[in-house]
Amino acid sequence: MNYVISPLTQEDEPFLWQMLYEAAHMGEEDHLTLQDAMNHPDLAKYVKNWGLESDIGFVATLITSNQPVGAAWLRLLTSENKGYGYVDDQTPELAIAVLPEYRNQGIGTQLIHHLLAVAKAYYPSISLSIRSSNPALHLYQRFGWKIVDYSDKINRVGGTSFNMKIDFD
Ligand SMILES: CC(C)(COP(=O)(O)OP(=O)(O)OC[C@H]1O[C@@H](n2cnc3c(N)ncnc32)[C@H](O)[C@@H]1OP(=O)(O)O)[C@@H](O)C(=O)NCCC(=O)NCCS
Repeated sequence: MNYVISPLTQEDEPFLWQMLYEAAHMGEEDHLTLQDAMNHPDLAKYVKNWGLESDIGFVATLITSNQPVGAAWLRLLTSENKGYGYVDDQTPELAIAVLPEYRNQGIGTQLIHHLLAVAKAYYPSISLSIRSSNPALHLYQRFGWKIVDYSDKINRVGGTSFNMKIDFD
């Protein structure tokens, strides 16, 4: 499969909403729509007004059809506007998703590679929130993310999530 990875721009916001829906696993819940993600304030804060100066992200696009198939992005959500994976005011949170039919083919790995290469120059660390059942745990661990001690909490759907953090030094 041929795809390119390029920086996200403000024009990619509609695709990011779709990716947020995937990242939040809303498709697995009956009757939840993309609009539900957009109406959910704790989720919407990851995408709304995409393109702030502190935002960094990449999109994977199929070369032949120009179709976007995945994205990985960071947003700095500070103490007065905490995200699910908040650790401190200097650490942005990662969100990532690949469309279901394109998963497990290395796209997520490439997106994270690109993101880390740029993010290192701007931030000391990156955090994220992950469900304890998500196989993406291993993907994050391969890059150096570590589970944050005592960060377990009950998530939006009543399961367990915890935070992970990667430090650049
Ligand atoms: C997580 C995700 C972005 C990874 O992208 P990808 O292109 O599938 O990843 P790659 O092919 O580069 O790497 C495969 C790794 O992804 C993870 N993965 C594979 N399928 C997955 C799935 N359906 N859901 C979650 N993670 C998956 C595994 O950790 C796998 O690594 P392994 O070799 O240890 O099994 C993608 O699977 C996805 O969109 N999952 C659903 C949304 C999600 O869970 N987002 C993260 C929330 S914290």
